[in-house]
Amino acid sequence: MKFKRRTHTCGELREKNIGEEVVLNGWVNTRRDLGGVIFIDLRDRYGITQIVFEPSYNSEAHELAKKLRSEYVISVEGKVRKRPEGTENPQIPTGFIDVKVDKLIILNQSETPPFPIEDNVDVSEDIRLKYRYIDLRRPKMQSNILLRHKMYQLTRKYFDQNNFVEIETPVLMKSTPEGARDFIVPSRLHKGKFYALPQSPQQYKQLLMVSGFDRYFQIVKCFRDEDLRADRQPEFTQIDVEMSFVDVDEVFEIVEGLMQLFFKEIMNYQLQLPIPRLTFDEAMEKYGSDKPDLRFDLEMVTLNDALNNTEFRVFKDALQNNGILTGLLAKGCGDYTRNQLDVLTDYVKKLGAGGLIWMRVKDNDLDAPIAKFLTEKEKSNIITKMKASNGDLIFILSGPKLRTLSIMGQLRIEMARRLNLIQPNAKPSLLWVTDFPLFEWDDQTNRYYAMHHPFTSPKLEDINEMDKNPSKVKARAYDLVLNGNEIAGGSIRIHSAELQAKMFKVLGISNEEAQEKFGFLMNAFKYGAPPHGGIAFGFDRLVMLFAGESSIRDVIAFPKTSSGMSLMDESPSYVSEEQLTELHIRVR
Ligand code: AMO
Repeated sequence: MKFKRRTHTCGELREKNIGEEVVLNGWVNTRRDLGGVIFIDLRDRYGITQIVFEPSYNSEAHELAKKLRSEYVISVEGKVRKRPEGTENPQIPTGFIDVKVDKLIILNQSETPPFPIEDNVDVSEDIRLKYRYIDLRRPKMQSNILLRHKMYQLTRKYFDQNNFVEIETPVLMKSTPEGARDFIVPSRLHKGKFYALPQSPQQYKQLLMVSGFDRYFQIVKCFRDEDLRADRQPEFTQIDVEMSFVDVDEVFEIVEGLMQLFFKEIMNYQLQLPIPRLTFDEAMEKYGSDKPDLRFDLEMVTLNDALNNTEFRVFKDALQNNGILTGLLAKGCGDYTRNQLDVLTDYVKKLGAGGLIWMRVKDNDLDAPIAKFLTEKEKSNIITKMKASNGDLIFILSGPKLRTLSIMGQLRIEMARRLNLIQPNAKPSLLWVTDFPLFEWDDQTNRYYAMHHPFTSPKLEDINEMDKNPSKVKARAYDLVLNGNEIAGGSIRIHSAELQAKMFKVLGISNEEAQEKFGFLMNAFKYGAPPHGGIAFGFDRLVMLFAGESSIRDVIAFPKTSSGMSLMDESPSYVSEEQLTELHIRVR
């Protein structure tokens, strides 16, 4: 089918083009037949232009236009004219003109699409994902994907200007578990052996520092076989960064520059630097989270000192077991009903709390079921420490430190929601969380795990504690948090083979196992490894937040469902017996 090259896109024509002969291509967005005159909104990714078929202007084109339906692909030739007075549409940039059509070519027909091409359509996500190529025609999806494109370009330009080298690392690599489960790929040529897909290019980027590349970045796919959520995909994208001869401050400087650029270019918002920092301990104690949302205050308060001599059993037990008493002030909520308090108690119980202690502040005293177990001094200590006034409500949770703080942190968010503390136009809240613990103890397997990954350096002053008191050791690790979402994480690395061996020892990884799994990295460290460190952004999460979406699926062209399926091509899928035989695999 012969058609002329388009002269303009559907978002381009303005009043200055009036009188010009033009060629437009695109999709039929809507079609209205008004008293013999047919109006079509013609759409492409640049916008919408109204085109008009009048029988008196060109009867052949008008006749053919009667056949047009939604999503037909067409090419038209015609003349730009000023829209008649009163029919302008100031909502769209092309709304003051339309195109009177002289010639129509139908390039392709379309079946009726499973849902209309517009935002806010009432259609299940499964249907959207099955027909993703149609879903991606919707204006919001188009703008999300274009935003993603813009963020790739800003990233590349920024790192290039700052002397970083973009280097690709392998997708088929050795299985070296980093925290999540690996996806593995069977080898045909090496019977019984497997490649793994990288959970991140962590070890390769460290090797590139040993090779002297000094500043590396990559926009890279990572693969993790873990349980999925709205902010997690089995394959996702990182902006991965590594730098030599640096400490924490230099890494932060580079990242902060990039964040400032994103805010400027995308939101036209001047981000103030430096980004505030909180240690992990402070973040947990004040906000009950290692990724606190600071768009609202609502700080938790530790009450151990205020109640250190208490005889109240629940509190006393917690204190004796090195636990914590943490309080949260709900301003003006003293009139919450028993029913409302029961709902909140259930909420924390579902999260694993034994119960929720609440107290109403009345007549400068505490009105609560447990009040009779507290002395006057203890009650007044609580009121003072919580900065509470009459009419307020105080919540207290007690128990093992991190778990109790984390439950209170979730109650904090729930109360912020109930009290409408997050304003829709609140300033973005960005912060660094630093000084994470190096190790995490796991009760089930009775061993320590690296909280970040096993290549993370301990704080130098804590190295001697590594064998004696691992849980006290802090890491040179950091996360960047935006509005309560962890958008990036990294660390200064271990660069000595000796310290790396010590690390593996605490993690219960034997010499042989370490050699087997990480031997190449340990060997590389013997040949002049510079001090180095880096970070990786969750790129999908970053785009999601800038796009104002609440699921990363909405900023990924072809995402998986929460059960790891691709509904469009129906993967994962069975493979043929021949393929399996070739790979030396039998499915049980
Ligand atoms: P980490 O494991 O913290 O660090 O990952 C970095 C960032 O990647 C994002 N992210 C994810 N996004 C979507 N789906 C997932 N399943 C997923 N998992 C993680 C998060 C996270 O902050 N190699 C280290 C980085 C380093 O130390 O330099 C790493 O991968 O936003």
